[in-house]
Amino acid sequence: MKPGKIVAGALAPHPPHLVYAANPKQNEPRAECGWETLRWAYERLQKSLSEIEYDVLIVHSPHWRTNTGTHFLGVPHFKSVSVDPVFPNLFRYHYDLKVDVPLAEMICAEAAQAGLETQMMRNPDYRIDYGTIVSCHMTNPEWNKPIVGISSVGAARYYNMDVLQAMMFKLGQATRTAIEKSGKRAVLLASNSLSHRHFTAEPDVVEDMSFEHINNHNQYLWDMKMIDLMKKGQSRAMIDILTDFTEQANAETDGGSLTWLMAAMEFPTQPATVHGYGTVIGTGNAVVEWRGATP
Ligand SMILES: [Fe+2]
Repeated sequence: MKPGKIVAGALAPHPPHLVYAANPKQNEPRAECGWETLRWAYERLQKSLSEIEYDVLIVHSPHWRTNTGTHFLGVPHFKSVSVDPVFPNLFRYHYDLKVDVPLAEMICAEAAQAGLETQMMRNPDYRIDYGTIVSCHMTNPEWNKPIVGISSVGAARYYNMDVLQAMMFKLGQATRTAIEKSGKRAVLLASNSLSHRHFTAEPDVVEDMSFEHINNHNQYLWDMKMIDLMKKGQSRAMIDILTDFTEQANAETDGGSLTWLMAAMEFPTQPATVHGYGTVIGTGNAVVEWRGATP
């Protein structure tokens, strides 16, 4: 058997507004339009991924928060409705998804071997979080690939960001090792926004884009700094300043998704492809792709 490979990785943020505005049949609310720059960015990611062959999407979600250990979806099929707790007016999504349980078990075992607290999640009635669903839907709206779902831990708040990053280095390496042993071709998704200060009131028409802009200039500058490092292939430098970025821009990188992705891809030095950047209720979001080994 040929060793498996990470064929691509992406920063794939999960604002439910993007699914709402795209009006897929799975989502109950209907929208007129909205957040086009980010939705078109995802279209470019979809087109790029359509050029390579892969077997599975592996997603690390800030909104499946298991405070003290990393959990993995461990049931082959999930079907239910996911409702965003903050935006039930925008996201009531009927999902029907398949999980690559054998690969999830392999990553879980490798992570445990590396000393991380891990568990397979075997509850068939578990409601999949909207972070997992939005990132997967926007990347692959056909849902024609199985996924591996990985939870995020609360170490950034309970200890600090440096402790979380040390754990994500191990989880990333464990993910890479398991993929190689599996023989599969994987695309990895880090499901997080960048800067994350947001507005607290909605306009009457939620998709009225005249209300949409970055929350403040400070966090915009931070987002541009991070994206500049991605474009220059300086992922190690980006991860080195991620603690300061996370603190000062209140960034959603506190879930560890981006650190996990960079560690799994062994801190890529090739320039990333920035498919687009845009704001959602004032938060900064970038859709960014790193190509891995040639499939
Ligand atoms: Fe979020």
